[in-house]
Order: sequence, then structure tokens, then C-alpha cells
Amino acid sequence: MANGKSRDEIAAAYDSPPWWYDVRGFFILTFAYNSTLGQQLRFFGPHFGHRHIEIACGSGTLLQFLLRWRKRRKMPDSEIVGIDYAEAMLAGAIHRFRDRPEIDLQLADAANLPFPDASFDTANIANSVHCFPDVDGAFRDVLRVLRPGGTLAANVLLYPRGRWPLKGIAERINRWGMRKGILYTPYHQDDIRARLLAAGFGIESETTSGNCYNVLARKPAA
Ligand SMILES: C[S@@+](CC[C@H](N)C(=O)[O-])C[C@H]1O[C@@H](n2cnc3c(N)ncnc32)[C@H](O)[C@@H]1O
Repeated sequence: MANGKSRDEIAAAYDSPPWWYDVRGFFILTFAYNSTLGQQLRFFGPHFGHRHIEIACGSGTLLQFLLRWRKRRKMPDSEIVGIDYAEAMLAGAIHRFRDRPEIDLQLADAANLPFPDASFDTANIANSVHCFPDVDGAFRDVLRVLRPGGTLAANVLLYPRGRWPLKGIAERINRWGMRKGILYTPYHQDDIRARLLAAGFGIESETTSGNCYNVLARKPAA
């Protein structure tokens, strides 16, 4: 596949109305990730510490589902910061959470986070690692803003696996996503794992489901 696009081209590619992003996202989740909303809620839902950052929160659709999922299970509230680099996506999130001013939503690059070191207990990167042009920079900066012992949960789009016709459909969606700029590149699991380790994370747990690598990584305690 060709190289992905630049950070600004990616942000521009996400310049679509939040409702269209949600419809498109449902198809991508099903046919490219071979994942479901339920799987994502069970993976990311438990992972909110006292101070939490949602990296590349997009229009906030998944974050809102996650917060409802947690509320139904009477899980504790968190202080939440959400960041995204695409203005249209962030505007969608600001509108969605207009009645929740305590959720702090900021325009920022995952590889250049405007927060002091050790600011957060947990970080989620949902459906976005494979959209970042500077994934190593993002892992380094997420590590920096996590407190020692803090954890990152991320799911990463893998090169399509499995059989025809699902594999072929996922490959076509990925090629379209890369042309459009909403996907930088899929990954091989070993590659992402090595990048997390190189950034300084330890791998706490990892699973693959569909075309997704789900990883929980920890910043060393000392
Ligand atoms: C597929 S969407 C996922 C959004 C949300 N996390 C979800 O699961 O619905 C990818 C998001 O990554 C954001 N993004 C891409 N590159 C970024 C960067 N360098 N820094 C911050 N956000 C970025 C895009 O603007 C987009 O909102």
C-alpha cells in the first residue's frame, strides 16, 4: 500500500459532519475491523482511572457510549479530557457533551499533547492508532503524560486476516480509507508491540479479535 497522508491531510479528511462519520464508522467497524460496539465497550469501558484522557476522541460517539456503559454498571466517575486534531470532529464532541462542561475537550495532536508530565492515570486510544502519521511520537507523548504505573488501552487495525470474502472486503475498505486520508496504515501486531516497547511501555495484556489488536500497556512504576 502507498504511504499514508500528512497530519493536516488526515485532519482535513475527518472534516465531515459527525452524523456521516457515525454511519461510515459503523460500516468500517463491521467490515474492516471485524469488530462490534459490544467488544469495544467491554475492552475500553473498564479502563477509566480517576484522571483519564481519551486520545483522538473524534465526535465523542464512542466516548458517550462508554460513559453510559459505565454508568449502567455504577462504575466511578472520572475527570475526563478528550483531544482530537480534526476541528470538525472536536466540534461534534463539544456539541455532544454541551451539557457536561466538566468533560474538557481540546484541539491537540496526539504526538504533542499540551499537558504536563504525569497528568493522567489512564489513556484510551480507540480506533485511532492506525490514523496517526507519527505513531511513535504519539506513544512517547502518551507515556509522558501518564503517571508512573498509568495504563494505555488501545486497539489497532491489523492487515486483514481471515478468509475470502471478508479479507477482500476489508482490504478494499482499507485502500479506500488510505486514499481518502482517514486511515494512515494498518499494522502487523509485532510491529505495534515493538513500537510500544520502544516508547517505554510494558505490555500488560493483549488479544486479537477480528482485524484488531487490543493492547493494555503500562508505564513502568518507577
Ligand atoms: C476513526 S476516528 C476514531 C474516533 C473515536 N476515538 C472513535 O472511536 O469513534 C480517528 C480519529 O483520530 C483523529 N486523529 C487523527 N490523527 C490525529 C492526531 N495526530 N492527533 C489527534 N487526533 C488525531 C481523527 O481526527 C479522528 O477523529
